[in-house]
Amino acid sequence: MFFDRIEAAPADPILGLTDAYKKDPNPNKVNLGVGVYQNNEGKTVILDSVKDAEKILLEKEDTKSYLPITGLADYGTLARELIFGKDSEFVSSGRAISCHCPGGTGALRIGADFLHQQNVATTIWISDPTWANHYQIATSAGMKFERYPYYDRVNHNLAFDRMLETLSQAKEGDVVLLHACCHNPTGIDPTKEQWEQIAKFLADKKLIPFIDFAYQGFGKGIEEDAFGVRTIAKYNKELLIASSFSKNFGLYNERVGVLTVVCESKEAADKVLSQVKIAVRTAISNPPAHGEKVVTTILSDKNLRAKWENELKGMRDRIQQMRSLLSEKLKAAGAGNFDFINEQNGMFSFSGLDKDQVEALRKDFGIYAVASGRICVAGINTNNIDKVVEAIAAVAKR
Ligand code: LMR
Repeated sequence: MFFDRIEAAPADPILGLTDAYKKDPNPNKVNLGVGVYQNNEGKTVILDSVKDAEKILLEKEDTKSYLPITGLADYGTLARELIFGKDSEFVSSGRAISCHCPGGTGALRIGADFLHQQNVATTIWISDPTWANHYQIATSAGMKFERYPYYDRVNHNLAFDRMLETLSQAKEGDVVLLHACCHNPTGIDPTKEQWEQIAKFLADKKLIPFIDFAYQGFGKGIEEDAFGVRTIAKYNKELLIASSFSKNFGLYNERVGVLTVVCESKEAADKVLSQVKIAVRTAISNPPAHGEKVVTTILSDKNLRAKWENELKGMRDRIQQMRSLLSEKLKAAGAGNFDFINEQNGMFSFSGLDKDQVEALRKDFGIYAVASGRICVAGINTNNIDKVVEAIAAVAKR
């Protein structure tokens, strides 16, 4: 027998929670685990702009033949416009190339494959804490990872000095993975001044920025959330960006993402693209089409784009309302001062609850959060907030 020595892997720390939640018979259960937007009725609905684009595609689409390895050219251009802004040189100068990858995860993996296969780098520095999948993606692509401190647990803010102090140990050519906005899991992002300093620091140290851009539009706005990436690109001639359209278009199961690589020249970018193509061909051959076509249809139509931006704003605003309500109600319930929740961006709040408290939330109240204490604020609504507050207040006092 060859397989009987295989040991069972632990459940995924995030997606495994959804499986456990679905099996839980508790009628009062609430899933604050996975980063998926839910409306005030607790539903993850399809955006109207997406439905409209799908109607157009249903009428117009006349083939299901393969897409090019890197996806459609328009898709790449539109994705770069979102990242860098309409007037940026990176949209059409040829210095930046984009490649459709299955979700943000696919983009991170193809980027890491490219770096490893081309002997660009062996070490990637990852924030502590981070999205749990980052470690596995780096190592399964053959890279080594190191951690840099990111979060100050006492003051609930960015451990900026410690971050740069640790990163000063990185060697020239090491990769530094950064979250563009809505840091997962802490929700704490650098200020504009800090982004400037980070960008200059990376350039001085000749480090390669790799930016995970999974939540554009969920922080302060589409343009505002791109400030970090744009600042990094201002000072660094080479960088990678893994964008995801899972959250901002609600296209979770369509697996729509983009890997963008910025190079010093168009000549270098053309060669990089040829190697990225091989990485894609080997891993997935060529990308799935539906989600890419939905995004392209929306972004290239003025009215649909406006509709989408409005829907994205609606999601962002609702999460912000839930943040205020949550911190207010927690204070009123005597759970302590949770004002810091209002300073965090995006879907997540790093609640400060420890592993045992998170376990108690699940066992005693049917409330599912990630073991790190991350809760998905997008899963809170006016119907379940009192249950959530009562449960957090109870475990916070233990
Ligand atoms: C999350 O962090 O919850 C999301 O990015 C979903 C995932 O794939 O983990």
